[in-house]
Amino acid sequence: MHTVAVLSLKGGVGKTTVALGIASAALRRGTRTLVADLDPQGNATASLDPPYTDATLAEVLETPHRAVLQRAIAPSVWSDELDVLVGSEELEQLNEPGPDGRRLENLSRALDELYRSPTRGEPYELVVLDCPPSLGRLTKSALVAADSAILVTEPTMYAVAGAQRALEAIQQVRDEHNPDLKAIGVLVNRLRVRSHEHQFRIAELRESFGHLVMPTAIPDRLAIQQAQGACSPIHEWNSPGAQEIALTFNMVLAKILRSNRAGRHRVLDAGQRHGEDENVSGEITAAPENSETEVETTGPIPRVRSANS
Ligand SMILES: Nc1ncnc2c1ncn2[C@@H]1O[C@H](COP(=O)(O)OP(=O)(O)OP(=O)(O)O)[C@@H](O)[C@H]1O
Ligand SMILES: [Mg+2]
Repeated sequence: MHTVAVLSLKGGVGKTTVALGIASAALRRGTRTLVADLDPQGNATASLDPPYTDATLAEVLETPHRAVLQRAIAPSVWSDELDVLVGSEELEQLNEPGPDGRRLENLSRALDELYRSPTRGEPYELVVLDCPPSLGRLTKSALVAADSAILVTEPTMYAVAGAQRALEAIQQVRDEHNPDLKAIGVLVNRLRVRSHEHQFRIAELRESFGHLVMPTAIPDRLAIQQAQGACSPIHEWNSPGAQEIALTFNMVLAKILRSNRAGRHRVLDAGQRHGEDENVSGEITAAPENSETEVETTGPIPRVRSANS
């Protein structure tokens, strides 16, 4: 089981969109996945639209026991193969830093419990943690529980500073709680390829973080909002724009699954995992690399050296 946290310090940059995109790619690939909604706004829960549960992640974080998990997890409207650990407004009260450091570990405990004793069918191969827009206790709990983290940013003026602070937070959690936590990379969202401003900001990000900036960005596309509004996985949204974005999320998922840690809780043996990774790469190279739109929207982030163009 591999757990990935999707975070940014800033609100509205696309954390939930990326968490849902990864879940959509996982569903398409047949990877059994749980999305845990750590955001009191509950946007991931709203998009995945599970049936009513009589407990939520808030109760799980108070009491990380199997019986509570069982009451807080439900299948998403997307598929029985994609479950939701339901978020709720009550999470807000758990975001304040408190004297009880032990609670930071409770999400990690809950995921341990889920791995040892799955609540719905087979164990999950992937857990995606959709974080709230702050570095409070909820995001820290996610980093304590995660094997890897993806930072989401828009290509705007404050991107470098925001990513820097988020990377420092990852480093701090790594030093204090979770030495194996890995930063998968900085994923740029809402890219407009023809915008010089965006290209300049990406160059800034690359200068500061080098290869940590992921080689593909998510373009700004209405299809994302339409698919979310219709509670549909982006992989099933029938428009050329959506399909290009879906390919980008396949690449992001492949990168997560290839990250050199198998996860604290291994479901597959090494041979199986190796075979599966090859399979994922196979799918990705099948992407229409030469398509003009593909290059425009989901191709490599352009390297731009100056702002005055
Ligand atoms: N690449 C994109 N193209 C078009 N719209 C997008 C894109 N990414 C995100 N959006 C839209 O922007 C809004 C904010 O995105 P999202 O909810 O994913 O951000 P967030 O970081 O999770 O926000 P919050 O911090 O409030 O949790 C949503 O309406 C979403 O549909
Ligand atoms: Mg969100």
